[in-house]
Amino acid sequence: MTDVLKANDKDLDKAAGILAAGGVVAFPTETVYGIGADATNASAVDKVFAAKNRPHDNPLIVTVSGPEMVDRFAKVDARAKKLMQTFWPGSLTLLLPLVDDQVLPKNVTAGLNTAAFRNPDSKVTRQLITLLNNPIVGPSANLSTKPSPTTAAHVLHDMDGRIDAVIDDGPSRVGVESTIVDLSVADPAILRPGAVSADQIAQVIGQKVIDPTSPIALSASSAPKAPGMKYRHYAPSKPVVIFDPLDKQELKDRLNETDAVVAYEQLLYFFGLPAYNSWSLGATPQTAAEELFSALRAFDDRQGIERIFVQSLAKKGIGEAYMNRLEKSAGGQHLSIQ
Ligand code: TXA
Ligand code: MG
Repeated sequence: MTDVLKANDKDLDKAAGILAAGGVVAFPTETVYGIGADATNASAVDKVFAAKNRPHDNPLIVTVSGPEMVDRFAKVDARAKKLMQTFWPGSLTLLLPLVDDQVLPKNVTAGLNTAAFRNPDSKVTRQLITLLNNPIVGPSANLSTKPSPTTAAHVLHDMDGRIDAVIDDGPSRVGVESTIVDLSVADPAILRPGAVSADQIAQVIGQKVIDPTSPIALSASSAPKAPGMKYRHYAPSKPVVIFDPLDKQELKDRLNETDAVVAYEQLLYFFGLPAYNSWSLGATPQTAAEELFSALRAFDDRQGIERIFVQSLAKKGIGEAYMNRLEKSAGGQHLSIQ
């Protein structure tokens, strides 16, 4: 069974021991919980793919204790250095060229000559990596296709019995996964939107950053370069439908007792639903991002609920990351086109 560990020195030693022996431990971060294994141990990494049912052509993020750990594996240019100084530890993942193609096991990179490096804003997890003295792979700790976990309870829901342990350090503060920026090429590009925006990155490196996920995209890109972004993702088994707050009357007229609504607190009042059928996103894009995956998971498990209506937000700031995840979980279903 899966051990639930606390965020104290004794339990972190235990977790590091499990990782050193080739085991698998879920860890907290400020974005979502991840599943860790020693990134230099191919058979330990394989256990992560098995636990998640993850396709092998989808590479894993490499989670480090700090910038100095990256030098062992990747070529760090001046842009990468500046971004690490500014945003690490934090929710920005850097895609960098590897020093050579032997330096990480093939299953970590899916055979690519790049890897995605992340330094999470979690003291606990950075301490764990320091104790192991090796980076850990860090995909989100959900079964493949399901919404990412923002609490240890979510992790256990998907992973109990499939991994050795989970470290419980309370709910994740940000709620959506890190921004991924591609620095393996001359023109940097956002591969996945998150809490750190293209503009913030551009300001630090003094160079334009392509953001194909933004509504004001400069170039329409073809196949997504982050392989994970092509899969159905973040999706509960029940249908998710996006609605614009401007269409609230139309939605209210259509709702029945098997529907759930996820919206800002103020907007929820308008629908007058029982607590059983409603979930508050708080009052800001930040709280909405923090709550989104919890709401989807809660209604997926709630008996008698058949459809989940979730409000849209403006695609700016963290709202862009929120809408990116919500559109993937809804698979294109929108109230206005039903
Ligand atoms: O916030 C986060 O980044 C979380 C926490 C746990 O740290 N981790 C996370 O990992 O979201 P995961 O595996 O769920 O998403 C990683 C994404 C996938 O879309 C994957 O395809 C992409 O990063 N990726 C990883 N390595 C890559 C590479 N070498 N080239 C292109 N994309 C890569
Ligand atoms: Mg994921």
